[in-house]
Amino acid sequence: MARVLVSGGAGFIGANFVHHWLATHADEPVVVLDALTYAGNLANLEPVRERAELCFVRGDIRDTALVERLLREQRLDTIVHFAAESHVDRSIHGPDAFIETNVQGTHAMLKAARTVWLEERTVPVHRFHHVSTDEVYGSLDPHDPPFSERTPYAPNSPYSASKAASDHLVRAYHHTYGLATTISNCSNNYGPFHFPEKLIPLMIVNLLHGRELPIYGDGRNVRDWLHVSDHCRGIECILERGRPGEVYNIGGGAESENLQLVETLCAVADGAFAADAHLAGRFPDAPAARGEKSASLIRFVKDRPGHDRRYAIDCSKAERELGYRAEVTLARGLGETFAWYLANEWWWRSVMDGSYQRWIETHYR
Ligand code: NAD
Ligand code: DAU
Repeated sequence: MARVLVSGGAGFIGANFVHHWLATHADEPVVVLDALTYAGNLANLEPVRERAELCFVRGDIRDTALVERLLREQRLDTIVHFAAESHVDRSIHGPDAFIETNVQGTHAMLKAARTVWLEERTVPVHRFHHVSTDEVYGSLDPHDPPFSERTPYAPNSPYSASKAASDHLVRAYHHTYGLATTISNCSNNYGPFHFPEKLIPLMIVNLLHGRELPIYGDGRNVRDWLHVSDHCRGIECILERGRPGEVYNIGGGAESENLQLVETLCAVADGAFAADAHLAGRFPDAPAARGEKSASLIRFVKDRPGHDRRYAIDCSKAERELGYRAEVTLARGLGETFAWYLANEWWWRSVMDGSYQRWIETHYR
């Protein structure tokens, strides 16, 4: 039985992890620590808000004293560290927050874990799991082998550089102090509760409103898509069977060029509108509401500076050592994700205009 602190548990992947953990580890306490930045929203935890095992704390991971107090007072023995600034485009426009949260914030969490777990010895066994990204490995050419755990680091954006720095700090705390750490580097996640600034949810929301679908550069950049439910199971495998000090790559085995991915999403939307006449009434500005192609909204726009060409993950180590397998194919995942956004219009409208956050702060605080 684990007693888990989930940092960033009100964000996209963190919230999906909390849902997954509570569904598979009944009666195990989960404390979510989240600052509720623009990317964190209590609406992401709405499905589990009433669960007695869940405790939400609004706070900053850079507050070492707060993290120490949570670990100590709740006798937590596991940290799953998601909290970060996560959007590459934002890191290009304003890198400071990325250094503050991703580097200084991770270091503050490590310091707290060291004090409480190694010096005060509050629990017999502990684990600090750090969630990182494949972007630390840089960019691949079309015929390069996928990133393995032995690929040298070569981060290209302020975001990936800040994540690389945080990975190095985690590694150093294991080697120097003996903190029981694990790191996972995963590829592009998608699925429910994905904030509509990232490619897939942005395209879904835009096409439903008849807005343009901006494709950076020539649209030939490749990402390896990982359904968030597979990622959460991958982290669970690492917590249960991963060895302290080790790094595990988690991928979806689903490479796609951006243009191809957006065209597939457009075809999914066109099929959904053709199958359900009510959608034209709900989203009258969507081209599909008039029987036109959603792909007519695609526009090529100026490229992202320093845009990495290709990411691909070799996750054979996690498969071999932990029994990890990605289960959700990209075709199935995109269909289910589109359906989720149709069924949860309240969610994306409320996180985009902040209305859920205001409502819950009025009613529950
Ligand atoms: P997200 O931006 O959706 O969520 C980040 C969460 O962290 C938010 O809830 C936010 O409020 C919280 N947060 C930010 N700064 C904080 C601070 N100083 N103190 C406390 N909480 C803070 O991010 P995500 O997409 O869910 O990513 C989660 C983690 O996974 C990140 O570490 C990211 O680098 C990594 N990752 C993401 C992807 C992906 O495709 N989304 C892929 C690989 C790795
Ligand atoms: O690879 C893992 C990373 O995946 C994570 O570490 C990051 O936190 C996560 O944001 C994601 O980074 P990307 O930059 O790959 O994701 P994003 O959704 O921003 O973009 C995906 C691709 O789509 C990328 O090649 C840029 C392109 N793109 C993106 C947007 C938002 C477009 O062409 N148009 C867009 O409007």
